[in-house]
Amino acid sequence: MPQNGGGMETIMIKISPSVLACDFSKLGEEVSKVEKAGAEWLHLDVMDGMFVPNISFGPDIIRSVRKQSEMVFDVHLMIMDPIRYIDNFVKAGADLITFHYESCEDQMAVINKIKSAGKKAAISLKPATPAEVLKPFLPYIDMVLIMTVEPGFGGQKFMTDMMAKVSEVRAMIREGGYDIDVQVDGGINAETTAIAAAAGANVLVAGSSIFGAPDAVKAISDIRLAAENAYNG
Ligand code: DX5
Ligand code: ZN
Repeated sequence: MPQNGGGMETIMIKISPSVLACDFSKLGEEVSKVEKAGAEWLHLDVMDGMFVPNISFGPDIIRSVRKQSEMVFDVHLMIMDPIRYIDNFVKAGADLITFHYESCEDQMAVINKIKSAGKKAAISLKPATPAEVLKPFLPYIDMVLIMTVEPGFGGQKFMTDMMAKVSEVRAMIREGGYDIDVQVDGGINAETTAIAAAAGANVLVAGSSIFGAPDAVKAISDIRLAAENAYNG
């Protein structure tokens, strides 16, 4: 089990393949492929064409995939006013629901809605949003997602300049003694995982580098190895 810094803190690495990059005509097979390949989580990107300039899928697709998978369903909402749809995603089988800080006025109400349904809650920050906005919410959330691309599309280039924000968030979590995962999403492969994990990320979302790889098992194990090496120094 990867340890960080030799202290009491144990950081679990989790890989969350993003189905946005899969072949949707074979969704079921693609999901089984990454589950068999050892991914713990499945990342499901929901886009409304308003908060981001792209449209993906909604709760009905998630519900049908849920029937065939035991993975943790990590639902990333890129939608305006997400509180309207929390119940739908809970019923569809989400285990963890991430919403964007920038997508609503009352973030605490969204967190309360997710938590009162017994699910894990996470806040995501777009590249331009600073880490400090998270402070009031840290006692109530289970994960922070630091976007390493502008949300909306797969296959973009990893923004190395987000690493200062990842380190800052990891430091805030450590100082507060919270049990919160730090997820990165966008342009993640084995090489960028090494950078992001060294900065403090422990949940790696990867779309193109897993579903676009000739061997998903190798792609996932390369990402895991890069993260473990970063933590073990
Ligand atoms: C982008 C999505 C990502 C996307 C990542 O808005 O949130 O989850 O699928 O894709 P890659 O790994 O290809 O950058
Ligand atoms: Zn995502």
